[in-house]
Amino acid sequence: MSTGLSGGGEPTSRFWRQLGDVHSHELDAYGFDDLKRRQALRYFTWRWDIGRLLDSEQLRFLLRRSSVADWVACGLPPVELSRAAWAPLTWPVHDRWLYVAAVRLLWQYAEKHGHARVMALAEPRLGNPPPVYFRGRLISQDLANSALESIAIERALAGRTPQSILEVGAGYGRTAFAMMNLYADSQYTIVDIEPALTIARWYLTRLFDPKRLRFVRADCLEELGNSHYDLALSISSLQEMTREQVSVYLDLFDRVVAGGCVYLKQWRAWYNPHDDLMMRFSEYPIPRRWARRFVEAAPVQTHFRQAAWYVPGVDEDRR
Ligand SMILES: C[S@@+](CC[C@H](N)C(=O)[O-])C[C@H]1O[C@@H](n2cnc3c(N)ncnc32)[C@H](O)[C@@H]1O
Repeated sequence: MSTGLSGGGEPTSRFWRQLGDVHSHELDAYGFDDLKRRQALRYFTWRWDIGRLLDSEQLRFLLRRSSVADWVACGLPPVELSRAAWAPLTWPVHDRWLYVAAVRLLWQYAEKHGHARVMALAEPRLGNPPPVYFRGRLISQDLANSALESIAIERALAGRTPQSILEVGAGYGRTAFAMMNLYADSQYTIVDIEPALTIARWYLTRLFDPKRLRFVRADCLEELGNSHYDLALSISSLQEMTREQVSVYLDLFDRVVAGGCVYLKQWRAWYNPHDDLMMRFSEYPIPRRWARRFVEAAPVQTHFRQAAWYVPGVDEDRR
């Protein structure tokens, strides 16, 4: 199969070559143990800065949707602020406090609007998540965001339980953690570039039976052969690729997800200065035959869109 990526195209954008080098350097220097305080901050773990509080669409979204009582509930309980507890993060103390209060606000929102079974999962200590505690338990923004995405994916699946899931650009595996717990019989395939693939393998094979997992390099898509998936997803990844790479993945989904669902959550518009590319969600070459289930602003990260489609099987009418 000619994938374009395997067949000579660039498997990595300049943007990700540069970030990948930073991640590889950190792995060589520090290993994997602090990945939730290092690499995750360049995947989907957001840092909030007290100086630019009002610029944050995420915090504006959360503050507008919470009451004064909610703010008090998130801001008043004690916060672990010692340098030692946050190392190797060296954020100023006010940013550490803000991070905890913001994650608590997000958590409260996700408790009301996210997937309850994902919210009930314990955040793994593996990867050393930041010390954010709420009502006596360790919480995280990654788990809360995954709970919000999981409920959207469940809506897209319309009652089906996926047995096989394909994720492109999985970071360290936060979404895989939610999906593999939610769909406990599923097989999970990740396509990514290095060193993300190695990081996700390290993380996920310590948490799940490795037989449920498969890791495929972006330039080896032919390994997928005639595989079939009930669900394919990609979160905050496509806008950082080249247009050719995006087309290759959408073509791949069209072929291997026939009869299943595709879920995308990406920036509405994002300029990638390293590759000089403006990527707009509305311009992704979604195959015309896909039947859209929904497209909407993502909750919390409102600069993102999330959308899902049913991919008809060959010769099948749209459902
Ligand atoms: C911003 S991170 C998002 C990670 C994850 N989806 C999340 O939400 O936590 C972007 C991901 O896309 C991956 N990526 C970049 N270029 C890629 C490519 N050409 N093929 C597959 N994955 C790629 C990166 O390695 C990284 O895992």
